[in-house]
Amino acid sequence: MGASPAVEDFDLAIFGGTGDLALRKLLPALYHRFADGQISAASRIIGVARDAMNDDEYRLRVHQGLAGTAHGDEDALDRFVALLGYQALDATLDRDWDAFARRLDTSVGRVRVFYLATAADLFVPICERLRQLGLTAGKARVVVEKPIGRDLASAAAINDAIGRTFAENQTFRIDHYLGKETVQNLLALRFGNALFEPLWRAEHIDHVQITVAETIGVERRAAFYAGAGALRDMLQNHLLQLLCMVAMEPPVSLEPDAVRDEKLKVLRALRPLGADAARLSVRGQYRAGAIGTEPVPGYDEENGGGHAHTETFVALKAEVANWRWSGVPFYLRTGKRLASRVSEIVIAFRKIPHSIFAANAGPIAPNELVLRLQPDEGVKLWLMIKYPGPGGLRLRRVPLDMSFAQAFGVRHADAYERLLMDVVRGNPTLFMRRDEVEAAWRWIDPILEAWAETDETPKPYAAGTWGPSAAVALIERDGRTWHEDAEA
Ligand code: BG6
Repeated sequence: MGASPAVEDFDLAIFGGTGDLALRKLLPALYHRFADGQISAASRIIGVARDAMNDDEYRLRVHQGLAGTAHGDEDALDRFVALLGYQALDATLDRDWDAFARRLDTSVGRVRVFYLATAADLFVPICERLRQLGLTAGKARVVVEKPIGRDLASAAAINDAIGRTFAENQTFRIDHYLGKETVQNLLALRFGNALFEPLWRAEHIDHVQITVAETIGVERRAAFYAGAGALRDMLQNHLLQLLCMVAMEPPVSLEPDAVRDEKLKVLRALRPLGADAARLSVRGQYRAGAIGTEPVPGYDEENGGGHAHTETFVALKAEVANWRWSGVPFYLRTGKRLASRVSEIVIAFRKIPHSIFAANAGPIAPNELVLRLQPDEGVKLWLMIKYPGPGGLRLRRVPLDMSFAQAFGVRHADAYERLLMDVVRGNPTLFMRRDEVEAAWRWIDPILEAWAETDETPKPYAAGTWGPSAAVALIERDGRTWHEDAEA
């Protein structure tokens, strides 16, 4: 990756500094930015957690965790862990906060970032302490992870409480999907080319599919997940944000509020599923099965039982009720322990209006534009072409394929790398504004209520498959199928 401009020196306190997110995502991302020269040795990163540990023990732990990431660059890794410090602190107790404040007092006037990688019930006590200790003035910022709350009311309460300490422009609600390379590329593709935008509407687009499929289970987050489920964990935020990026009107600029205003309009235009929620959504929960050749247990048995109502899969049909999208279904699906790890957005264009080809030319598939977020990031435009050689005019569906790795041969920064640097720079374009989060919940709440009203539990699916058969029926009922990335 080309050298990125250095950011100003900062202090970053990661609450939940020994947790999964910090160790798996945040610290590797910071390490990469440091190794790339974007973070100077004068910046400080302070892990904050309850475990008793000193600075050196924390450095050692992070060093061990990052050894695989550093690709043998021991020198950069040693210099990186020298930035780290550790503060043992229980956010709910008085003790230790003064020691924490003293660590930060030495650098008044700097950018200060408080990353709350903790359970949501600690957001409020942490913010209040930070305010009482006078740590939130000047260039202070707070970063909070999704999901914010578990419904509209709890999200509003959390936003109110954070708002008592931090102004909206100091509050960075992270949705790491917005930092993914392909999602950024959606902006480039839509607004950096004249080709697509005239076609980007109901007149030419038959439907849109957004799939975020994972092969992993709930990993170390079983307790959180049991109370959340796929709708809150993934769809309320990641999938709806992707939908917004596809469906929004062209913003006048890339100014943070210009983009977020347009996304908000999309969220507000989502047609409430209301009484149709049961018919237009499918919940699933995985049973024992196999990922590849590896047998895996079912969700409930894996997590000690008692979670019959937690969905590990959700598919639904949404509609953006406005002039551009009226009548165009957006099919969304996400799940754990599915057949393969793939995240993609499929823009399915309409059929040709009339065929001039003989019946034996083969079926004419409608064009599809596929934006692949992972694993192999890129864009494919599926077209019909003539099969080469004599033998009559036979048609074949092939992709114009642009894999980013092949096209540019560079390592792609993880979403957290970009987003953490945006926080330091104070640029909230790729973060969710309060009104966006609440508009998303306003649409999700009735679905949760409709589910709560039935006695039905999520439909079973075997681990390693594509979810319950009802999810296939959801789209096939409309004469459509889930996209398959195979040449026909
Ligand atoms: C997180 C969810 O936000 O995103 C996890 O809480 C999920 O459940 C993860 O596994 C997926 O992120 P990615 O970047 O691996 O697709």
